[in-house]
Amino acid sequence: MPLLILLMLLAAGAAGAESATPSLHIGVNYGANADNLPSPTSVATFLATKTTIDRVKLFDANPTFISAFAGTPISLAVSLPNSALPALADKATGLDAARSWIRANLSPYVPATNVTLLLAGNEILLSTDTNLILSLLPAMRRLAQALKAEGLTGVRVTTPHYLGILAPSDGIPSNASFRAGYNTKLFPAMLQFHRDTGSPFMVNPYPYFSYRPETLNYALFRPNSGIYDPATKLNYTSMLDAQMDAIYTAMKKLGYGDVDIAVGEAGWPTQAEPGQIGVGVQEARDFNEGMIRVCSSGKGTPLMPNRTFETYLFSLFDENQKPGPIAERHFGLFNPDFTPVYDLGLLRDGAVQITDGALLHLASSPFRGIQYRKACICSASAALMLWCACGLGPRIKGRKQPLAGCLFGCLAKVNHVEERA
Ligand SMILES: *[C@@H]1O[C@H](CO)[C@@H](O)[C@H](O)[C@H]1NC(C)=O
Ligand SMILES: *[C@@H]1O[C@H](CO)[C@@H](O)[C@H](O)[C@H]1NC(C)=O
Ligand SMILES: *[C@@H]1O[C@H](CO)[C@@H](O)[C@H](O)[C@H]1NC(C)=O
Ligand SMILES: *[C@@H]1O[C@H](CO)[C@@H](O)[C@H](O)[C@H]1NC(C)=O
Repeated sequence: MPLLILLMLLAAGAAGAESATPSLHIGVNYGANADNLPSPTSVATFLATKTTIDRVKLFDANPTFISAFAGTPISLAVSLPNSALPALADKATGLDAARSWIRANLSPYVPATNVTLLLAGNEILLSTDTNLILSLLPAMRRLAQALKAEGLTGVRVTTPHYLGILAPSDGIPSNASFRAGYNTKLFPAMLQFHRDTGSPFMVNPYPYFSYRPETLNYALFRPNSGIYDPATKLNYTSMLDAQMDAIYTAMKKLGYGDVDIAVGEAGWPTQAEPGQIGVGVQEARDFNEGMIRVCSSGKGTPLMPNRTFETYLFSLFDENQKPGPIAERHFGLFNPDFTPVYDLGLLRDGAVQITDGALLHLASSPFRGIQYRKACICSASAALMLWCACGLGPRIKGRKQPLAGCLFGCLAKVNHVEERA
């Protein structure tokens, strides 16, 4: 009997989780600095058919990747390399250079692939190269002009910024402003460009790079005593909220509170240096769940209630060839075989109608890689009717059974269902 009750609780839990996370639309960064990843076409098919991910951001303009998304409902953000920008900024030749780049790199693939954003480099303001920094806004303007001239009117231009564009402060959002210099010389003109062209101001907020052991709960959306902003009388219990509102405050102080904000990257790694506190699968899940709630669910932030932000999770896969600290190689949401590293509710068909004999692909990570002969799948669909399944490995055959037929335990959650041919 206790087992039966446990089964019912688990089934009810699955149902509750499903209704709490309706299919949220969200983007993902697709970096491929790795030697173990599936082909771009299989990635595109997987994302389009098995997940609720509807936008993908690339760090380059690789034609194989862009064309892989042709004919899918997934829209793309495509990036120019940083090194391309100075040539586009040139007053005399920049527009022609921008048009050539677009003719070579976008025109052949659009509109078959729905490219909606063109990103001028990545985190340019982190650079120490003054010439590169000075070329950023002129290059963005030339790209927007060139897109118009080439007839690609559905593509908007922006550039992702690291959070170091904000002046150092005490973490109270109302105190935020852009760094001195940028605050007067760059951002007013750039925000005017965004307003004129209807493109979003894109930031990469990373609580991961700002947390300390004492602020871990604040960074991970876990219960914490919060930070009080006396100027707005608002209480912040998440660092991401505070970072987003800091950006908004800096924009508003310049008179551009109306410009949309997009989140180019944010994420949390599942591995880091040995002994680093606050990194793991549970931490990554907590952060990303919280971030999706803030950015995509319509909840918004204390200063931007009910707003949604075009958001790209970082990242689709672990990238085993990425240089730098261990964490850099461990931000992935999916394994190369498309099983989730942890469940974020981004998969379609979490537990849906299946016909007897359909193949169930199991998702729950505790059981990934284990050879099991029998599993009982918690189905959130048909009231407390569980799916019993028998088989080996992560793909097993399903059969609908009443609760009593599943007494050997509720072992796994369905990732997706492959109907029998
Ligand atoms: C392209 O993607 C955008 C954003 O997801 C969407 O609003 C638009 O309808 C798409 N366009 C086409 C032609 O599918
Ligand atoms: C902020 O919220 C937290 C969590 O709800 C609460 O513990 C704290 O007392 C609040 N602080 C203020 C100043 O309202
Ligand atoms: C932050 O704002 C508060 C008032 O809201 C002010 O007292 C404080 O000096 C500010 N701190 C900084 C570093 O600007
Ligand atoms: C946000 O949505 C809630 C719930 O729908 C509503 O009560 C509130 O007035 C909205 N706030 C704003 C600023 O639109």
